[in-house]
Amino acid sequence: MRVRMADLAALHGPLLPELQAAFQRVIQRGRYVLGPELEALEEALALRLGAAHAVGVASGTDALLLALGAAGVGPGGLVITTPYTFVSTAQAVTRLGATPVFVDVDPATLNLSPPAVRAWLDAHSELTPRVQAILPVHLFGRAADLPALEALAGPLGIPVIEDAAQALGAMDPAGRAAGSVGKLGCFSFFPTKNLGALGEAGLVATSDHEAAERVRRRRSHGGAPHRFDEIGGNHRLDELQAAALLTFLPHLERWNARRRAVAARYAEALGRSLTVPAEPAAPAVHVWHQYVVRVPGRDAVVAALAAAGVGTALYYPVPLHLQPCFQELGYRAGELPETERAAAETLALPIHPALSDEDVELVIAAVLAALEATA
Ligand SMILES: Cc1ncc(COP(=O)(O)O)c(C=O)c1O
Repeated sequence: MRVRMADLAALHGPLLPELQAAFQRVIQRGRYVLGPELEALEEALALRLGAAHAVGVASGTDALLLALGAAGVGPGGLVITTPYTFVSTAQAVTRLGATPVFVDVDPATLNLSPPAVRAWLDAHSELTPRVQAILPVHLFGRAADLPALEALAGPLGIPVIEDAAQALGAMDPAGRAAGSVGKLGCFSFFPTKNLGALGEAGLVATSDHEAAERVRRRRSHGGAPHRFDEIGGNHRLDELQAAALLTFLPHLERWNARRRAVAARYAEALGRSLTVPAEPAAPAVHVWHQYVVRVPGRDAVVAALAAAGVGTALYYPVPLHLQPCFQELGYRAGELPETERAAAETLALPIHPALSDEDVELVIAAVLAALEATA
């Protein structure tokens, strides 16, 4: 591929001396788990997010599991969420013994639709007492409509838990940091995320002291060192990953700015030829984790782009309500039409911060040529 969906070697290469210094610091200290690197990372991210607590964990998946668990999600409960997300979002619900309720997305933003949540609540008032959380995902780096979801959830006493795995640096429609608004927010530092580790890592942010304490306890077997109050696990973020993340954190703004500039150029050059994602109005801030367009005849366009040396990806071609792992929930094709239409039509173009201007123009030319060839 001439232009790939991610190029971590190009992104990290210039930072190699800083990374080496960070690893040297950790190795000379000889402490690899729950040490000062993690403490410094947690402090920096809590400050950045405006949250009272940030708790580093081993992955975004673990962040979801621990955050939902700390909010009381468990057997017999229901969690309203989007079917148009990475599978991890809803699997965390099922792993806790609760049941995901999939509600359709807003076609303009591809995020959980507040009117669809309202409609579900109105149609299932007998089930409302069992709803333990509403779990929006800030898909592709655009914050969900949290004010509207809070207005629905608040009066019912239902906590909002944010899956902000793709959205570090994003701001919601009210100008609040994505992942800091709900009872708890979950982040992933998978290597290709806007802030990525050199392996697996994640974080839970919250301003609820009790919930933070629960997440802290459960990430390390439910207690320490000799008293274990509850069942936990090993969900810790290690010192080498924390050191790498601390090295990358000062570059996040610049990287997100580059993503924004690429998104603006794509919108300008492609907006007349296909459906490009809408930029939210200020004070919302989109961090463009992915640049996802809609194209009729998508699969032919994907093939034409691959032939031109341009990598693409599908997020997500099979929505969660139609995945085999959720088959027993009984959803049928056609039930969540906006989600299914998005799954059939969308296509992600390269938008990582290591793209050169030349790469971006090459993608644009290849997309326009592919559209013409497949029209
Ligand atoms: C929306 C969403 N939720 C959860 C996750 C899970 O994060 P991780 O891969 O770090 O477990 C990811 C990313 O992979 C994601 O994109």
